[in-house]
Amino acid sequence: MEVRESFSLKKFNTFDIEVACKYFVECEREEELLEFVRSYELNPEEVLILGGGSNFLFTEDFDGVVFYPTMQGCEVVGEDGDDVYVRVGSGVVWDDFVAWAVEHGYGGVENLSLVPGHVGATPVQNIGAYGMEVGESIVSVEAVDIVKGEKVTIDVVTCRFSYRDSIFKHEWKNRFVVTYVTFRLSKRPVFRLHYGSVHDEVIRLGDISLKTIRQAIIRIREAKLPDVKVLPNAGSFFKNPLVERAFADSLIEKYPSLPVYPVDEDHVKLAAGWLIEFAGWKGKVIGHAGVHEKQALVLVNTGGATGIEIAHLANEIKKSVFLQFGVWLEAEVNVI
Ligand code: EPU
Repeated sequence: MEVRESFSLKKFNTFDIEVACKYFVECEREEELLEFVRSYELNPEEVLILGGGSNFLFTEDFDGVVFYPTMQGCEVVGEDGDDVYVRVGSGVVWDDFVAWAVEHGYGGVENLSLVPGHVGATPVQNIGAYGMEVGESIVSVEAVDIVKGEKVTIDVVTCRFSYRDSIFKHEWKNRFVVTYVTFRLSKRPVFRLHYGSVHDEVIRLGDISLKTIRQAIIRIREAKLPDVKVLPNAGSFFKNPLVERAFADSLIEKYPSLPVYPVDEDHVKLAAGWLIEFAGWKGKVIGHAGVHEKQALVLVNTGGATGIEIAHLANEIKKSVFLQFGVWLEAEVNVI
């Protein structure tokens, strides 16, 4: 374990913002982490837990403790018929785990190829893409509770997964440092090809298999989403807003091409990227903060932006989308 003081987070946030934290605790061993939280009696308000840093926008220095868990390993811990249980360290790069699963012929996470970040952050955010959410494959989450100073195993029901959401974003925000996640994968996967151009792209690559699905998703993502190394960003900045069906119907009357996704009988989600593009923001730049030219849901640091500049751009977009459509966008990214 390493504890550093007044530590720069520039390399630990994909927006590439220059900010610092008071203490930075990098830890690979659970026992050491437990010992640390027991001796400091922290509370969640003075703590941040960082994975790959791909879901944060820092607008100022963080005057508290940042935990950076680096637990490694990817181990089959059980099998049950066609199901395989795999326990993965929270510090493993998410896409390395997806590549491993696909290589071994285990299905369940292939549509989530190339999602940035570490394994430990995936249950917090319940990452999702191309018709798949990670919460569907998670069996349990192991974590260290910084309040009680103990190790816990949290089952999937307790995680309360929903669209880009979990209990770790609400009552348990910044309270549990995830150490391992156990996934249930399948040796006989059911392929998910219904989202957007996934099916057509897979067919173009040959037979339908875990490998071609992974390849197709990588192609689709690379064509649309900017590489953080070239154009720092945090993926989708906003969530797709959930609205009442009747309200959506009234919008569609005015804007027939607005994409909507069914949620339940009374609710639908609207494509935030479409709303932002239609409001005229695609490709716009204010100062050093911009709206990506191929996917309006992604805000980018065009070079040397401060967190405040990006937050300012986000606010301008929110106001303008509200004035035009009467919909308030909500950030998916954690704004600190
Ligand atoms: N659209 C536009 N203009 C844009 C962007 C999108 O008109 O600038 C339209 C598209 O044409 C499409 C619809 O909006 O009809 C949806 O677009 P897309 O399929 O690109 O997906 P999204 O809703 O913008 C969500 C996730 C992404 C995920 C994709 C694919 C959220 C907030 N975002 O984006 O997740 O990769 O679906 O499943 O749910 C992330 O969370 O960081 C992320 C990238």
